Amino acid sequence: MLNHTADLGVLSPTHSITARADKVRREVSPRLDGNRRAELGQFLTPEPVAADMAAMFGELPADVRLLDAGAGVGSLTAAFVTEALARPVTPRSITVTAFEVDPGFADLLGQTLDDCRAACEAAGVRFASRVIEDDYVLTSAEPVLSVIEGFNCAILNPPYAKISSASRWRLALRSQGIETVNLYSAFVALALNQLEPGGELVAITPRSFCNGPYYRPFRQHLLDNSSIERLYVFESRKKAFRDDAVLQENVIFQLRKGARQAERVRLETDSGEARQVPFEEVVRPGDKHCFFRLTISPEDAALAERVQAMPCSLVDLGLKVSTGRIVDFRAREFLRKDPGDGTAPLLYPAHLRDGGVRWPIPDFKKSNAIAVTPRVEKELVPPGRYLLAKRFSSKEEKRRLVVSVYDAEVPAAFDNKLNFYHRDGAGLPEEIALGLAAFLNSTAVDDYFRQFSGHTQVNATDLRNLPYPSLEDLERLGRHAPVGQEAIDAAVATIL
Ligand SMILES: C[S@@+](CC[C@H](N)C(=O)[O-])C[C@H]1O[C@@H](n2cnc3c(N)ncnc32)[C@H](O)[C@@H]1O
Repeated sequence: MLNHTADLGVLSPTHSITARADKVRREVSPRLDGNRRAELGQFLTPEPVAADMAAMFGELPADVRLLDAGAGVGSLTAAFVTEALARPVTPRSITVTAFEVDPGFADLLGQTLDDCRAACEAAGVRFASRVIEDDYVLTSAEPVLSVIEGFNCAILNPPYAKISSASRWRLALRSQGIETVNLYSAFVALALNQLEPGGELVAITPRSFCNGPYYRPFRQHLLDNSSIERLYVFESRKKAFRDDAVLQENVIFQLRKGARQAERVRLETDSGEARQVPFEEVVRPGDKHCFFRLTISPEDAALAERVQAMPCSLVDLGLKVSTGRIVDFRAREFLRKDPGDGTAPLLYPAHLRDGGVRWPIPDFKKSNAIAVTPRVEKELVPPGRYLLAKRFSSKEEKRRLVVSVYDAEVPAAFDNKLNFYHRDGAGLPEEIALGLAAFLNSTAVDDYFRQFSGHTQVNATDLRNLPYPSLEDLERLGRHAPVGQEAIDAAVATIL
């Protein structure tokens, strides 16, 4: 393994430890091996973000025991120490435990910790550090390492990587009572376990944990074990990691271990908005999915209130939403470029256009049809009107919710990158389909959706959990069938 190196020759001794760490980050990042970088989630935190994170800690303990798991070159520890030394009351001692699995970072991390020691000593603060060059998740599950406990501060920018169900990480996590699907949530959950009561954790992570069924146990873990005190949302996807191609929306959060949930939570954004909101605005009481809703401005909160006041659930309306049943790469032998004898229409997200459906697409690079064989037949929906919703919006698309009404004249198949609304497997009455399409395509509902969804994926569960208008209002909207964004928004405003 090659060591990552950085030329620090031009730095004057007056440079702060964070400036040095940031110079290292800028030098090292472009030279990291692409594959390894993706595998280990090596997106190092820029100085201003690290400084904001460090500033989020409340009053510091006299003897700080800091955990930096997945430390990289030590940017977060550098920011923490800088912040601690700048406070009116400085700690008596700071002890840092840094985990970093990539030995290539060892020298640079060592240098940052040396800088921290020098700065602390100059300020009369005792400093000690140890680097554990090992896998944080696996090490945390080793019972001999009971030394990984009793931290009173944790600062994290954890790696992002999916955890497969058969992986060693998954088993190690299970032994710690943690069920989760990504390394980032694993790191946060473990760090929370390793904090002593009253300890504080500040982490920057993707926003994807805020909703969706897979992160439900992780959200519950946070709610059961800590008080969520501050949430800082990056409204722009690229802002946190400007130099790197990070496309996830990010959020920074501050938690206090074992404390009763604070009544009010501070919500902030990178565009400078900040407000204290009642905790029930973030996680609604009785929400069995425990979505974290980020109502950033008072307008967001007002919108959330209006949408949540909608009277019906999908069940009340007698409707269901499911994911399309055709997984095309598993059904290759049945796919047909164009419709013909013995085929059924096959709908992909690309067929959805401007609230309608354009099918078949000439020279479509995917398939417009699927052969009706006994295996395929049971995946078809009967003729009728369905509401199709894209499961993934493209990066260029402004909207998360993109839905179209599809009028199937013959049995049809839906690709699994579409969700579809139906009534017990059959189509919807025309006015209801059109009314629902207008409701879901409105700017208001899309804005509401973004409050809890920070990624481009639209899960069927998210759609199931939306509040909906009454059947009468949907029918009224459907009779009116507004066309164009302005007309849709104006019509939906009459029922919101
Ligand atoms: C997103 S980077 C953040 C680095 C640093 N905390 C920062 O903010 O600049 C995640 C770091 O975790 C390290 N890492 C990845 N998987 C790890 C694991 N299983 N155990 C310990 N460190 C890991 C990566 O090598 C990388 O340095």
